[in-house]
Formats: sequence, structure tokens, C-alpha cells
Amino acid sequence: MPRTAIAAIGTCVPERVVTNDELSRLMETSDAWIRERTGIEERHWVGEETGNSDLALAATNQALDRAGWKATDIEAIVYASLSPDFMFPGDGCYLNAKLGIPGVPALDIRNQCSGFVYGLSVADAWIRGGSYRRVLLVGSEVHSTGLDLTTRGRDVSVIFGDGAGAALLEATDEPGRGVLSCELHADGRHAKELSTDAPGSRYHPRLQPRMLEDGSAFAHMEGQKVFKHAISRMPEVVRSVLDENGLKTTDLKLLIPHQANLRISQMVQRSLELRDDQVFNNIMKYGNTTAASIPICLAEAVEARGVKRGDLICLAAFGAGFTWGAALLRW
Ligand code: UT7
Repeated sequence: MPRTAIAAIGTCVPERVVTNDELSRLMETSDAWIRERTGIEERHWVGEETGNSDLALAATNQALDRAGWKATDIEAIVYASLSPDFMFPGDGCYLNAKLGIPGVPALDIRNQCSGFVYGLSVADAWIRGGSYRRVLLVGSEVHSTGLDLTTRGRDVSVIFGDGAGAALLEATDEPGRGVLSCELHADGRHAKELSTDAPGSRYHPRLQPRMLEDGSAFAHMEGQKVFKHAISRMPEVVRSVLDENGLKTTDLKLLIPHQANLRISQMVQRSLELRDDQVFNNIMKYGNTTAASIPICLAEAVEARGVKRGDLICLAAFGAGFTWGAALLRW
């Protein structure tokens, strides 16, 4: 049975950099608070001309260049996002059109901050099962158009950034290379602790002017609860995928934790007793880009840490739902 290898990763963040000082002119916050509580120094936000599927297209084109593939080599698209261009259809179809590959299937998934790991699990099953040999997996988000930029929304708005990461996945028969396991979880009892309720089909009608006024159109987050679960669930699932493969934390070249908060990553690192050189973080520059955070972080880590064929890498995610998961792979 083939395994799933990452042939190349591409990324794209919008040009516009938004600093903490810029946010503190919009709401009651400060550079010091944001750095101390989250580690974030700046993030990127799109301008009016750029949408989610545009970021995904740029990331995909970079990945295609790096892999030496043509768009027509892609046999299927898996697109993870909680912030698509439009209500429907999903951005997988818009990306399919922008890449000029009509007929290629496009699966849109939500799963928020765990979207990339959930997507990898689906693509891996397709590849192992022989349905497709070359799959494009995208995580892309435009948060900036949906933030409450007043003091009411400051706990959420200072965290999120825009960006995209695209991984080209291919079947490999090379011994010891590729995805070893993916493990996924969800616990919907916590759905309301991080959610955006409106617009939604539960409302009659689903879109109402009051939704902007009462804040229900913006993300609501019970930050401390999310934090508490993230720092226990991520180490738990990392240990579990390692155990399943008879491996230990000391075998890891790199852990790529979802970039939600630098303090979360540091606590996960401590809990797993990993050295600094075994964990890569870049939330300082991008904020939390949700489904895009793992591929953007992985792409930079591969360069910065000189990842080589055979190195063991673990991706770990936690986010709204709650959903969480991990993927273990050999580069
Ligand atoms: O992507 C996956 C899901 N998301 C996460 O994993 C995020 C998890 N949670 C967090 O990262 C943190 O909980 C936050 C960064 C959101 C908040 O940090 P915290 O250390 O948990 O702060 P807090 O919510 O306990 O708030 C502490 C204080 C409060 O003021 P009082 O009640 O002590 O007077 C907040 O109102 O900080 C206040 N506060 C702010 N102050 C300045 C909240 N947001 C801000 C802000 N600037 N942006």
C-alpha cells in the first residue's frame, strides 16, 4: 500500500502587516498585553482585492513551482477553511476554476484550527486506498473581514491573521517515507466555547441587522477554557500517535503545533519534555491563521531547521468544536 508524502508546500500571506500598535489605536489594548499574553507581534490582513481562494491560489502556485508539478497533475483538492469567500459553494470549487482544472473533485472541510490535520487524514486515506495519487491540501483563512475591531471584541481580534498554506501530497512507495498515522478527535460539548453563531440557518431569517449590533456575527471565545483544553489535548494526542507507532518524543525532529498562542505552544513543549530545537513557532509574525497555521509553520520550519529525508515530524492541532488531532510523518 502506498504512503502519503509531502512533495512541496507553498504559502501566501497578504502584503499588509498590521502591528499591535495599530490595533491599539482601534481598541483598548496594547503591544505589551498582546506580546505577553499571546506572543504575537504582528499579523497580515488582506486588502479589498484579495479573497480566501486568492491566497490559496498563490500558495498552491508556489507549491507547484517547488514540486515541479503542473496544475493538471492535481487529481483532487481538499480545502480547509472556516472563512470561505462565500456562503456556498465552498472555495475548493473556486480554486479548481482558478487553477484551470475543471472536473477535478474539490472537497471543502471546516474543522477550524484542526482543518489541516483533518484534511491530511482524508487525503491520506484516498492515497492509501488508491483513489488518487496526487492531492492538493489547502488551509486558508481570511479572518480580518470578520473581526469586531472594537474593545468588545479585543480578546479575539488581536489574535487572528490571514494567510494560506498549500501542500502537494503524493503517493510514495519509498520505504520509511510519508504519513505514518493521523489521529482525530472532537468534543461538541464545547462547541459554544469558541464559535460564530450568525448568520445561521437556525435563525428566521438567517441574516438580521441585529447580528452586527449584538455581536453574534463575530467570533465568541471563552479564551481560558480553550487554553486549558488545548494544553492537555495536544500533548495527549501527540503521545498517542507516537505510541501507536512505537516511537518516543525523543525520536521527533520537529513538533509543529497549531499556532494559537505562543504560551500554549510553550506549555505543550514542556509537557512533552521537548527541547527548543524540536518545536517550531512563528505565531509572532502571523498571529493565529487557523487552518493555515500548520502548513505555514511547517513550510518555514523545513527551511529553518534543515529538515531532511527520513526526519520524524508531528503536526498537532486544537481548535473550535472542540476538535483536535495529530499527524505523524517521515519527511
Ligand atoms: O485557535 C484555537 C483556539 N484559540 C485559542 O487556542 C486561544 C486560547 N486562549 C488564549 O489564547 C487566551 O485565553 C487569550 C489570549 C484569548 C486571552 O488571554 P488570557 O491570559 O486568558 O486573558 P483573559 O481572557 O483571562 O483576560 C485577562 C484580562 C481581562 O481583563 P480583567 O477582567 O482582568 O480586567 C480581559 O478583559 O485581559 C483583558 N483582555 C485584554 N486586555 C488588553 C482581553 N483581551 C485583551 C486585549 N488587550 N486584547
